[in-house]
Amino acid sequence: MYQQPVFTKRTIMTPGPVEAHPSVLRQMGQTILGQFDPEFLQIMDEVKEMLRVPFQTKNEQAFAIDGTSRSGLETGLFALIEPGDKVLVPCYGRFAYLLGEICERAHADVVYLEKDWEAPFAEADVIAAIKEHQPKIVAMVHGETANAQMQPLAEIGQFCRENDIFFVVDMVATFGGTETKVDEWQIDLAVAGTQKCLSVPSGLSLITYNDRVQKYVAGRYQKELGLGADARNDRHIQSNYLDLSQLEKYWGPERLNHHTEATTMIYGLHEGLRLLLQEGIENAYARHQENNRILTEGMQKMGLKMFGNEGTKTPTVIPVLIPEGIDGEKVRALLLDHYKIEIASSFGDLKGKIWRVGNMGYSSRKENVLSFLSAFETVLKNQGYQFEVGAGSSYALSEYAK
Ligand SMILES: Cc1ncc(COP(=O)(O)O)c(C=O)c1O
Repeated sequence: MYQQPVFTKRTIMTPGPVEAHPSVLRQMGQTILGQFDPEFLQIMDEVKEMLRVPFQTKNEQAFAIDGTSRSGLETGLFALIEPGDKVLVPCYGRFAYLLGEICERAHADVVYLEKDWEAPFAEADVIAAIKEHQPKIVAMVHGETANAQMQPLAEIGQFCRENDIFFVVDMVATFGGTETKVDEWQIDLAVAGTQKCLSVPSGLSLITYNDRVQKYVAGRYQKELGLGADARNDRHIQSNYLDLSQLEKYWGPERLNHHTEATTMIYGLHEGLRLLLQEGIENAYARHQENNRILTEGMQKMGLKMFGNEGTKTPTVIPVLIPEGIDGEKVRALLLDHYKIEIASSFGDLKGKIWRVGNMGYSSRKENVLSFLSAFETVLKNQGYQFEVGAGSSYALSEYAK
């Protein structure tokens, strides 16, 4: 007979998934409601309202899509792309290539603007590329989890708006942890996830978009045949499951029958958003800033160096250069095996060069920072790294104890 597994409790200091808030997990254990149950419809409406706060938007459309964050990216891009449309994808890290990959599969004409991963783009460089390539859509990442860099967006957003270009932004790694000003930065469609700064398990994607997108998407609406043959469309969106035109009507007053909602996930999302609003987004951002500062300075006191441009780093990830002669994977394994603490490696050229320490959501708290720094020091000493043991952890404690 199979045994019921009991999993080891971890301290998760990766850039996602991070620890879910215990109250979120409790809410997810509540009884099942049908997707059109009035009690469930009420929390769907509250989710829509609450999502507008961290997205910093007045958009009518803000809701969840079943599937991990990339389901939202795919939904948004599929809704806007028709075959042959030109999309400009500026890449300063790994996740921009995911956007490009999705656009290619939607048969877009994708133009990649590439640079090193040390820093984001100067906005003027992106604007120059837009002028040169004249795309219908610009798709970018706000916070790149692979290299911990964050892209300024306001000038690009303004230029796109003035030139009637759709501006699509991946805010998966920043939403809930730092400012994500959808309206002020003139972003037409933004996507976030649940498993990072919102402290909700992976499995939902969050989307918001404005009237320009809504109008465009309305022109592609197609109703499923079994629901009535009255709304067929030559320009329908290629995916049925990720069809924004139908999802909008499922989350709206029409309550169009589409997929069977993952109701327990929505309970968890509702609780994650409720906790974020209870803390206050400005307080949540300040908490991430403070823990980012103490983690970074603590590791610097240990003689460690950070990767990339300091001024444009996201507070939600800390990219630590692995010192010469130290086996990064061995350090990660010792942390996990002996201290039950998980940190991440990276991708592409940065694999084996940096560790990524996550500072997100419920995982971004004092006791995690302190226990991680103490364990990290002991493991690095064990692996022969020369430094003053205790320099990082005692610095962190003195900062918190001030
Ligand atoms: C910036 C960014 N975009 C997109 C994704 C893809 O998200 P998911 O794995 O939830 O589909 C991730 C995942 O880590 C991410 O960090």
